[in-house]
Amino acid sequence: MIGRQRHCIALEDFSREELLLVLDLAVSMKEVLLRPIKKVPSLRGKSVVNLFFEASTRTRSSFEIAAKVLSADALNWTSASSSVTKGETLVDTARNLEAMRPDVLVIRHSAGGAPGLVAQHVNCAVVSAGDGAHEHPTQGLLDCFTIRERLGSLEGKTLAIVGDISHSRVARSDLHAFTKLGTTVRLCGPPTMIPAGVEQMGCTVTHDLRTAVEGADAVVMLRIQHERIGDPLIPNTREYSRLWGLNARKAADWLKPSALILHPGPINRGVELSPDVADGPHSVILDQVQNGVAVRMAILYLLAGGDPAEAKA
Ligand code: CP
Repeated sequence: MIGRQRHCIALEDFSREELLLVLDLAVSMKEVLLRPIKKVPSLRGKSVVNLFFEASTRTRSSFEIAAKVLSADALNWTSASSSVTKGETLVDTARNLEAMRPDVLVIRHSAGGAPGLVAQHVNCAVVSAGDGAHEHPTQGLLDCFTIRERLGSLEGKTLAIVGDISHSRVARSDLHAFTKLGTTVRLCGPPTMIPAGVEQMGCTVTHDLRTAVEGADAVVMLRIQHERIGDPLIPNTREYSRLWGLNARKAADWLKPSALILHPGPINRGVELSPDVADGPHSVILDQVQNGVAVRMAILYLLAGGDPAEAKA
């Protein structure tokens, strides 16, 4: 359990204390991950099934590595080589895999709500690895972890999230988590990519990149989610990059020297981030990837029945 949570579906459901429970435990998990021999017996005898109905590089690999560092068995399932191609439903697929007695099902799906639906039909723990444009809770947690690790605290800090907010499950999870942890959140992007009324979630909105990033302690840059957009929402990519992309000149003129740049990946280099910024001194993008393993270790440990007090001992 993560506090009252039997699953990890959406950070909207998490209290501040539940978020901090995961983030604090992930500090201990990162210490394990950085050891020369990165293996502990904490989840020996437990198993994790990764069900990915959408492509992934970082999330699927890090859930698999997280399970293995904790000595759980990990099975990677992909829809392309499964009986989904013969018409089997999501719920039937999940119930059949659950019959093999995994402790945790990790699910990525293009439909928002898919992990929540599965959680209603199985008894094991369910973790969302991203569902449509709804939420990507473990990405939100690893973003919090990365900024907290660098800046010491999230309370009183300012975060700008820039790009295709409307179609971004990362933006939604970040917004829920950072506002609960005391961070001021500014959203920025083309008017067609900002959901109407989003200010009610406790953030501010601007369409001007400079206004968003000046004075910010951290900036999350997002790619345009072409796979979730029907008709084009911007005139062209060059125009988008000119107005909402971050390059070295803008970073030098507008960012605080200590500002952190994050990106969930995959990066469209030259669109939302120029390569020299993506790989430059402000960037903590590869730290995010490493911290993703630590955060997912903490989630798997807690949902597979681990005691947080024992993990920190
Ligand atoms: N951040 C993220 O979700 O990356 P992947 O799509 O590669 O898992």
